[in-house]
Amino acid sequence: MSSTLFRTKKVEQSILDTEEPEHALKKSLSALDLTVFGVGVIIGTGIFVLTGTVAKNNAGPAVALAFVAAGVACALAALCYAEFASTVPVAGSAYTFSYASLGELPAWTIGWDLVLEFALGTAVVAVGWSGYIQSLLDNAGWNMPAALGSREGADGFGFDILAAVLVLALTVILVIGMKLSARVTQVVVAVKVTVVLVVIIAGAFLIKGSNYDPFVPKAQEVPAGDSLQSPLIQLMFGWAPSNFGVMGIFTAASVVFFAFIGFDVVATAAEETRNPQRDMPRGILGSLLICTTLYVLVSIVVTGMQHYSELSVDAPLADAFKATGHPWYAGFISFGAAVGLTTVCMILLLGQTRVFFAMSRDGLLPRFFSRVHPRFRTPHRPTILLGVIIAVLAGFTPLTELAALVNIGTLFAFVVVAIGVIILRRTRPDLPRSFRTPWVPVIPILSVGASLWLMLNLPAETWIRFGIWMAAGFVVYFLYGRSHSRLGRHQETTVDDVVEGHPHPDR
Ligand code: ALA
Repeated sequence: MSSTLFRTKKVEQSILDTEEPEHALKKSLSALDLTVFGVGVIIGTGIFVLTGTVAKNNAGPAVALAFVAAGVACALAALCYAEFASTVPVAGSAYTFSYASLGELPAWTIGWDLVLEFALGTAVVAVGWSGYIQSLLDNAGWNMPAALGSREGADGFGFDILAAVLVLALTVILVIGMKLSARVTQVVVAVKVTVVLVVIIAGAFLIKGSNYDPFVPKAQEVPAGDSLQSPLIQLMFGWAPSNFGVMGIFTAASVVFFAFIGFDVVATAAEETRNPQRDMPRGILGSLLICTTLYVLVSIVVTGMQHYSELSVDAPLADAFKATGHPWYAGFISFGAAVGLTTVCMILLLGQTRVFFAMSRDGLLPRFFSRVHPRFRTPHRPTILLGVIIAVLAGFTPLTELAALVNIGTLFAFVVVAIGVIILRRTRPDLPRSFRTPWVPVIPILSVGASLWLMLNLPAETWIRFGIWMAAGFVVYFLYGRSHSRLGRHQETTVDDVVEGHPHPDR
């Protein structure tokens, strides 16, 4: 039994699978497309919304250090991702990589985990987008009816129609084709980066030095309340839960980690990349470096413009300009944020459908979902199914707790990928690797440590929710995936052929 749970899919087989015409995606992306893709999905709700929340509640101006801490954890993970992505250039991201190295059950675990990351991530960003659009509509004097504007309408029932419509519209774009969405992405990324640069440059002239005092506010005890909302690490060691101070920086880092999610999505597009061996590492590391630099600068500027205790939690970047008497900038930033969040949402949705596609192609989910569209050559079936589910989720679900759940899922994936790099180096030293993670096993081990550390700084209730989702995944695997696995069937027929002495017609 344990040997079937840890059966691995040969890397060569993974690459061969992508060449079957019915199941193949178009190879059209370059390193620049990938970098734009990365920046397109990385800069989003994290910097536009969460910066204000964590500066105000957890870290003060030291939120810039939280971005550095989260950025370091991501850079370590990126070095591992880049090796895997350049070795196993097929759709599916960490899912595919772990199928080739750790075995079927770990691969299933990670695939199921990525579905959580991308689906909830898409919903979170769609809700943030809806908030910005509503704020722009407010400026123009239009107000959405309460029941259609948020989750809690006048009678306690509400459906965020804008968030749902955004997800459905993006679903249609993705079904029509990758190339179209890459073009749209490029324009939108340009708008978003311009907005971020405007915040940094215009804001730099509005900084007041006194706002940085204190840069790291003193630790404050949190009043005893629901202990499940405290970071797990504080409960584990029986510390009095606190905000600010040095631990506050790490709590903030585990939240603003959301701002970096997306560079791993670049790896999910490996199969659609013209030269994955060379372009994939460039795309991943390049987009991560650009974003980390921008985040640190934005957070330093914003906490310098307005005292951290006065920052807004809904639209901190725009409101800091309003507070310093520059409403025109605020309108421009809100508009750019709304435009920028569109691509984030689209690329998360794309990553989601590609993981689902790869799992289905391997038979772990019904194969029905891995037939590509005869004309558009996109995996239209999972795209439509998941698009509709996420639209409903985005309409009904509040986002703060979802963001923490997205973070824990992503960090867990990073842990598996880093361990996978070490294992694959030992089990398949022969594979060509156009990018090699430096200092193996030191970097992968540091990556595991950094990701686990951030996970431990997330609330205990997030761990419980994550545990429930993963347990459900095991049930699905043992009831369906294990017996339908294409790899498992292939191995069984190999044994039969030897016994019966004739080749199987499928091969
Ligand atoms: N990194 C993306 C964001 O901040 C998911 O919205």
